[in-house]
Formats: sequence, C-alpha cells, structure tokens
Amino acid sequence: MKKEIVFITAILIFISCRYSKKETTVSIKPNNDSTFANVKDRAWWKEAVVYQIYPRSFKDSDGDGVGDLKGIISKLDYLKSLGIDAIWLNPIYTSPNDDNGYDISDYRNIMKEFGTMEDFNALLKGMHERGIKLVMDLVVNHSSDEHYWFKQSRSSRTNPYRNYYHWWPAEKGKPTYRWSFFDVKSEAWKYDTLTNSYYLHYFSKKQPDLNWENPKLREEVYDIMKFWLNKGIDGFRMDAFQFASKDTTWPTLPKGYENNVIKYYGNGPHLHDYLQEMNKEVYSKYNVMSVAEGAGSSPEEAMKFVDPARKELNIAYHFESVDIGKSLNDYGLVNYKKIFSRYDSVFKDKGWLAIFMANHDQPRMLSKFGNDDSLYKAASSKLLSTFVLTMRGTPYYFNGDELGMSNIRFNNIEDYNDVDTRNKYENLKNTGGDLKAFLEDKKQTSRDNGRTPFQWNSTPNAGFTTGKPWLKVNPNYTTVNAATQENDSNSVLNYFKKIVALRKSSPALIYGAYKLYDINNTKVYAYTRVLNNEKFLVVLNFSNTETDFILPDELKSFTTITLTNYSSAKAVIITNNSIHLQPWQSVILK
Ligand code: GLC
Repeated sequence: MKKEIVFITAILIFISCRYSKKETTVSIKPNNDSTFANVKDRAWWKEAVVYQIYPRSFKDSDGDGVGDLKGIISKLDYLKSLGIDAIWLNPIYTSPNDDNGYDISDYRNIMKEFGTMEDFNALLKGMHERGIKLVMDLVVNHSSDEHYWFKQSRSSRTNPYRNYYHWWPAEKGKPTYRWSFFDVKSEAWKYDTLTNSYYLHYFSKKQPDLNWENPKLREEVYDIMKFWLNKGIDGFRMDAFQFASKDTTWPTLPKGYENNVIKYYGNGPHLHDYLQEMNKEVYSKYNVMSVAEGAGSSPEEAMKFVDPARKELNIAYHFESVDIGKSLNDYGLVNYKKIFSRYDSVFKDKGWLAIFMANHDQPRMLSKFGNDDSLYKAASSKLLSTFVLTMRGTPYYFNGDELGMSNIRFNNIEDYNDVDTRNKYENLKNTGGDLKAFLEDKKQTSRDNGRTPFQWNSTPNAGFTTGKPWLKVNPNYTTVNAATQENDSNSVLNYFKKIVALRKSSPALIYGAYKLYDINNTKVYAYTRVLNNEKFLVVLNFSNTETDFILPDELKSFTTITLTNYSSAKAVIITNNSIHLQPWQSVILK
C-alpha cells in the first residue's frame, strides 16, 4: 500500500511539472578560442581557477609532522585531476615561524622544514609540465625580527639599515598608540633597550613593519620579486600590502578605531605611488598574476588597486564578504547578497576581483557559510563550490574544501598553534576576561580550523604524515577524505571537478554579466551570468528547508538543467512559475 502511494505521488509530481531533472552530469565543451569570441581584455589570470595550498598542512613526505614541498610534488597528479589552473602557495621562505611563514628571515631561501631550493625547482617544473601555474606569497609589509635587515637595523641608530623599519626614539616620550593584530597587549610599538627606541609591528612583535618610505628598501623588494619571477613563477599574492604606507607623522587616531582597522591602516598616503612604482619596475615586465590581499574598505577603494588605467595590480580581494561575523546564518543572506552586488556594480566594466569564501585566515567555508551537520554537509559543500565557481571574478579555492572539510573545534587552548588565537587568549587571561566564552567563540572562528592537515585517506593521521602532525587531524577523516571520495561519483570532490570543468568551458561564467534576482529572498541567492548568447541562471538554496524560488517572466526561458548538487532521487522540480529546491540545493540552468 505504502509503495503504491509513493508511486502515485511520483506520477502526479511528474505530470504537474513542466520539466523534471533527468540527469546530473555535465557535458563539457572543450574550451577553445572561438567560444570566447567578442570577449575583450581576456587574460589568463581572469580565466584561471586558483587553488590555495597551505604547505604546512598539505602533505608530509619525511615523517616530521609538517607538510613539505616533496609532499606537494607527490600530489601533483591529484592537483591536475582537479582541473584547476594555478596554485597559490602560502609562504615557503626561511622563517622562524612565529606566524607560520608570514615572518620571513630570508626571502631567497626555502624554509628547512619545507625542503630545499632543488625541491622548489622540481615543484615548479612539475606544475608547469602539468599546465599548472604557481603564484607565491609576497610578505613585504613586514619581515621577521630575525631577518638580517632587522638585526642590523636594531643594532644602532646610525646603522645603514636603520631606516628599513619604523623607529621612535624613547627620549621623545611614548609614541602615539597603535593597535596590533597579534601582540599580547595589542600594542604595535615595542620598546627595544638596545637603542632606547620603539619599533612598529602591526602584527606580532616578531614581525616588524618595513619602512616603504625608504627607496632602498623598495629596491630590495623589487629585486626579490625579480629573483622569483626570473625563476619562472607566475605571480604574487601580496600579503597585507594595503598597510605598507603609513602616515609617519603618527597622528592620534580616533578612539575605537581598531574596530575599523582597515579604514585607518589601509590606504596610507603613498600606497598607490608604491604600487605604481612596483608595476613599472617589476610587474610591467612579466605576464603574471598580481593580487592584493585586502583592498581598502569600499568597492571604490578596491578599484584603485586594479583599474587598468592606473597600472598597479590586476586582482583585488576585499574582506567584506568574509568579515561577516561568525556565520552566514547570523549575518543574513540578504546582507551577503548586497555585498557582492555592490562590488559587482563598481567592477562590471573594468577592474577584476577575487571570489573566495575561505583561506588559511578563516575557519572552514562549510562551517561558516554552509552547514556541517551530517544531514547537510555534502549538499551545502557542493552549493558553496557552485557559488564560488559561478560568480564573476577569479575563484580562489582553499585546499580541503573540495572534500567538505569542516571546523575541528578544539576544546583546549593547548591544541591551538595560531599566534592570533594564543596571544589573544593570553591577553584575556592577563586582563581577567572570559576565557570560556573566548574558547567557545574560537571553535567557530579560529584560523586553525582551516589549517588542520589535509585528509588524504582513512589510514592513521589521514595519510598526511607518518609522524606526529603539527596540528591535530580532524577525526572525521575516516569518512571525509580524498581516497574515499575519488571512488564515489556523487562525492563532494567529484562535484567540485564538474563545476571547475563547467566554469572553464563557459565564457559566460567567467566574463558574463552578473544580475541578481529577488534580493530580499532570505533563503535563495539567484543570479544570471550572461555573455552574448550564452546564458546561465544559478539558483542556490542557502537554507536547511525546502523552498520555492518564484520565477519572474524573464527567467522562464531557463529550462535546461546543466548541473545540480542532488542526485536524481531528489530532483529539482521546475514548474511554469517556480523552482522547488531541496535544503541546500543548487541548480544551474541554461
Ligand atoms: C595576512 C596573512 C596572515 C598573516 C598576516 C600577517 O593577513 O594572510 O596569515 O598572519 O597577513 O602576515
């Protein structure tokens, strides 16, 4: 009896629908030049899908518990199988690792834990042989305090390297207060007895800020850039560069400014002069990707970094779409849509943005923007990948998200490695703050959630290392891992490969105009991407419940499903007036 009811219901649904999904596979046309006819200002860095590797956590080849270059080399075929075009590699240079490589003590050498320059050369060669480009991190807002320049600089007030950094002589009293991101006391000026002076560090005290006003320092940086570019790398992601120029009259900043730090530290008086000089001296000589991490606090400010007429950088990534607090659920989908739509309206005719939901400074995309509950994790991971890969801008996709890796949610401060989390905990402890609430918050927000080792397979430590991993492995690796998912055609991983292939073969998904529909819908994010005759409608249900997206007349011509994240059993149902979506269902229509 029960079976019959199910059968009859199924027939009724079928008859009442104008269309119902039959299959979920994508047929990908090869990407050839004619499909891009009429696209002006084509560039490889606009068409690339960038995959970010956090080397410390990707693959350990020698059992010391830390990922390394040989480990990445051993996974080149995996990277190729994803279909991605470029790798952004977090810093691999020599570093005492106060901030995991973002404190560089030698810009021309490889961190011992990661390997040697020979390993690097082999990695670059292996990537290029597979058609994958390499973009390196350039960390030049600050160096390590163990860099030769800083050792010299602090040794005496008259040392030739003194002006490579910002110093304040103590006989003038205390310098104006500057807030520091990672300092235990949140103070960016550190007193140094050696020369009775303070030095500036916006990040940890082991990351002194470089003085960009000094032309000699700028020349050194351009030489370093050329050193790597001449080796054949394909670009740089410029770390924290929006903070490089400072108002060195050190004016008093308004009370509470640290809540809007980008406004006060970003966009210093000479920032764009430096970028134009860098472009003239370095970037203009190479066909490479140049990406600014952080780009002011408005779309108009971001445009200044990448407006082609200004000759500075080529891609900007802003923080508004990740600085949304603990979760998208709390922030609200409508507000989130507004961010992207506001940026797109400024960038629609010129300039270029990055699109991303996660990186090594963020918790896991699934835990922040999706739902990592076992009921929804696969669908919501696939939906988020759909979003990142169908928006206008170069997608930057963080390693492990293609498997649906989620936050580890440590219980103890000892489990954390991150200088940010540890020093803020110390600060709270010293000032009598609420440590329990802090730890609870970090389960959702700490950067270490995104840094746990990559989950390769179900063997101990997820196949990441044969030793003791530097950061604990998420216990869900027994089910969430690459090996299992490679063999499952419905897996999050295999869906990622499909959506990457779809983007690469569809000029409209790369260059096409973006138009948002139904902005006030609190569950569904729906938009079109249109280029000439190629048109896509993307409909994403960012919620735990089924919902209907009502089709405006102009969208009724979209009837062919190109890709959906549910298997045919829970097919998307399209009637004349609406699209019925399952929880976290995504659908791309033509
Ligand atoms: C950037 C990096 C981050 C680092 C900071 C200081 O934001 O992405 O990981 O801690 O700069 O270099």
